[in-house]
Amino acid sequence: MSVSNEAIEQRLSEGLRNTWHPVLPSKFVTTKPISIYRCGFRIVLWRDQGGKLYALEDFCPHRGAPLSHGIPMGDRIACGYHGVQVSGAGVAVSVPGSPGCRLEGMAATRSFPIEERCEAIFLFFGENKDTPATQLELPAELESDEWSSFLCYTEWGGDYRYVYDNVMDPMHGAFLHRQSHSMSFGETTANFRVRETDHGFCFEKEGQRDINFDWTEFEDRGAHWLSLEIPYPPTGGPGGNFRIVGIYSPMQPGWSAVFHWRLRKVSGWHRDAWRFLYKNRLEKRHWHVLEQDRVLLEDMDPEANKREILYQHDMGLVRLRRYFRQKAKAQLEANAEPAAIAAE
Ligand code: FES
Ligand SMILES: [Fe+2]
Repeated sequence: MSVSNEAIEQRLSEGLRNTWHPVLPSKFVTTKPISIYRCGFRIVLWRDQGGKLYALEDFCPHRGAPLSHGIPMGDRIACGYHGVQVSGAGVAVSVPGSPGCRLEGMAATRSFPIEERCEAIFLFFGENKDTPATQLELPAELESDEWSSFLCYTEWGGDYRYVYDNVMDPMHGAFLHRQSHSMSFGETTANFRVRETDHGFCFEKEGQRDINFDWTEFEDRGAHWLSLEIPYPPTGGPGGNFRIVGIYSPMQPGWSAVFHWRLRKVSGWHRDAWRFLYKNRLEKRHWHVLEQDRVLLEDMDPEANKREILYQHDMGLVRLRRYFRQKAKAQLEANAEPAAIAAE
């Protein structure tokens, strides 16, 4: 069964399915419904009084009004247009204007499995509405007592795949971020290699480690993420290298939700010292560095990746693009199979 390039591109632009994607920082969602575009869907999220989260497609099963304009009622939401109540599981539990009609009891609305981890809300985007969620794994250090992290969230005007490319490109640290407090050391020429790991691969400089932004690792474990480390000068406080975990989720076309967790391996009073230092000194500098990425990426031609002349330093992003593409293709092929068989 062959799948068209357009279908693969469409799948990639909306994000891989059967995958957990972070959609918002936890603190953004309250008892007041919020509407967002992520991974090809418009989604409404809200919490009940106990703080439990719900996520539904933001589309009323009656005539399609955005449910986010409605009234949250704990574990259900009442559409603001004609009052149809949809449960957190996506069932139209009550149709006040026409009790007993066929819509009542229908599981007509897509609901998304939710996990709230590491200060962020993750949703599972299955191939189909009823595809069961897989287990969500995250980098162990994000949930370890020995590490301390800050989530930093932003939204950028560019395709999320350029953000993955950017972080899978350690060499830009020595140029774009040359003036930064932590990336002014080390060689500006290097040879890279790809090293296979259990759940992905590591793209790393040969012969230079712990000097600058020298490697990026990709992992796919139900969610995908990149991790990297930046060595810190002594003025950067306790905790060894500064670690960053990044996940980038598609929003509407041309927009990306950018999640970076910034971590250091610190416990006891070192943890307090690092958290204080981060909030008072480092955070501002990090945003400044991230701004350099944002300004450049937002101003790239959206079609730039069709006219590239790549060299050795780009092996990592080539590898990552190929991985995403193959996975998208395999998902579409698996999806198309039952129809193909039925047609035979
Ligand atoms: S469109 Fe929602 S109740 Fe009619
Ligand atoms: Fe950067």
